[in-house]
Amino acid sequence: MTLLDAIVQRHSVRRYTTQPIDSHLVEQLQSLIGECNAQGGLRIQLVTEEPRAFGSWLVHYGAFSGVRNYVALVGAKAEDLDERIGYYGERIVLEAQRMGLNTCWVALTYKKVPGTITIGPDERLRCVISIGYGVDNGHGHKIKTIDRVSRCQGEMPQWFRQGVEAALLAPTAINQQKFRFTLHEGDVVEATHGFGPYAAIDLGIVKYHFELGASPHPFTWK
Ligand SMILES: Cc1cc2nc3c(=O)[nH]c(=O)nc-3n(C[C@H](O)[C@H](O)[C@H](O)COP(=O)(O)O)c2cc1C
Repeated sequence: MTLLDAIVQRHSVRRYTTQPIDSHLVEQLQSLIGECNAQGGLRIQLVTEEPRAFGSWLVHYGAFSGVRNYVALVGAKAEDLDERIGYYGERIVLEAQRMGLNTCWVALTYKKVPGTITIGPDERLRCVISIGYGVDNGHGHKIKTIDRVSRCQGEMPQWFRQGVEAALLAPTAINQQKFRFTLHEGDVVEATHGFGPYAAIDLGIVKYHFELGASPHPFTWK
């Protein structure tokens, strides 16, 4: 499965079987997380076979069940922390999809279980991603039109359109899709986000999707 296939096939999955993640996949995830942490200056951590974070009444409210594995998205406080969390978190989500696993970004309906995640005094846990074998593969979300989330002068180049299409398939908090891509002269792309507590995380997520969709056309971020 290519990363573009993973973009199309991924949907948020909130109900999981109790099957533990295969040990060779756990190793692959750990090595990917190590890479993301090195490149993104983050401290993302994989927690396996830990059912308590998703074991409270909150979880039933949020429709999650069977969650025993999750990726904790932790990093040192910084202005661009959320965007990096989104970008590298989504890299993990799409690789997990290629491994035959299902995922869901989770901002609210989990609790921190003492002794499971390391969070330094200057660090923040911004979100988790539930991960495992889904009861099903989820279903597609309602998406905005390309015109509503992008701007360009004249005819839209194919690579830019494909980038925006990939971004529209990305997960965003409450499926708000409050982002915009603008094409400037010289193949410079500006990505901006609206308001909301998770809008900058969403932006990191959709920028990663855009890069995959627009590839191999070279462009630069503004
Ligand atoms: C930053 C972020 C936080 C999210 N938080 C939650 C959450 O707390 N609970 C939940 O059920 N879904 C959560 N989601 C999943 C979104 O609701 C989901 O991505 C969106 O509805 C689009 O559906 P899809 O992922 O199936 O394409 C979150 C998604 C993102 C990107």
